[in-house]
Amino acid sequence: MEDLSLHIIDIVENAIAAKARRIEVSVVEEPGEDRLTIEIKDDGFGMDEEVRQRAVDPFFTTRTSRRVGLGLSLLAQAAREAGGKLEIDSRPGDGTKVKVTFQYGHIDRKPMGSMAETMTMLFLGNPDVDFHYTHVKGERSYTLKSEWMREKFHDQASVAPDAIQWLKKHLQEGLAGIGVKG
Ligand SMILES: Nc1ncnc2c1ncn2[C@@H]1O[C@H](COP(=O)(O)OP(=O)(O)OP(=O)(O)O)[C@@H](O)[C@H]1O
Ligand SMILES: [Mg+2]
Repeated sequence: MEDLSLHIIDIVENAIAAKARRIEVSVVEEPGEDRLTIEIKDDGFGMDEEVRQRAVDPFFTTRTSRRVGLGLSLLAQAAREAGGKLEIDSRPGDGTKVKVTFQYGHIDRKPMGSMAETMTMLFLGNPDVDFHYTHVKGERSYTLKSEWMREKFHDQASVAPDAIQWLKKHLQEGLAGIGVKG
């Protein structure tokens, strides 16, 4: 996978598989500190300690459709290759937090990719999930919550034809406003 945004989709898919109703995606770019931090927090069914410890193992999965589970292990590898690490905080019934760090300027640090497209897809593809997306770059930050969309489109966001345009524009302009290429 070339872009970190694609890894984010994978981790959000894990949260959705864990029946999350609320998912927080946070990206914090701190070029001055040479650090990039991505956090994905969900209120899904969580993991017990044994699953948590094995979750980054590529040959561990609780899926029944195939024998490998690559989402977390590939992201952990991407972090390690760029001087960072992946940590999982999870408890059964109490949701999961995946935190991954990178050296911002590391030559092997993957590019972010398009967060505007990624979040548009995640928001519209999962109308029953409450998303909170925050993106910080240096001193500036941008936030988008799916409840704002639901208010604006009276709960019809996933079918309203202008919702996609509105969402993309909000994301692209918001991210451009903090100096992030959407
Ligand atoms: N947010 C989460 N909540 C609960 N369990 C999780 C969560 N994320 C991961 N897991 C557990 O960790 C395992 C490994 O996750 P990982 O994303 O690496 O692989 P996968 O989802 O099983 O397969 P793939 O990502 O390749 O489709 C999952 O099968 C699941 O048991
Ligand atoms: Mg997965």
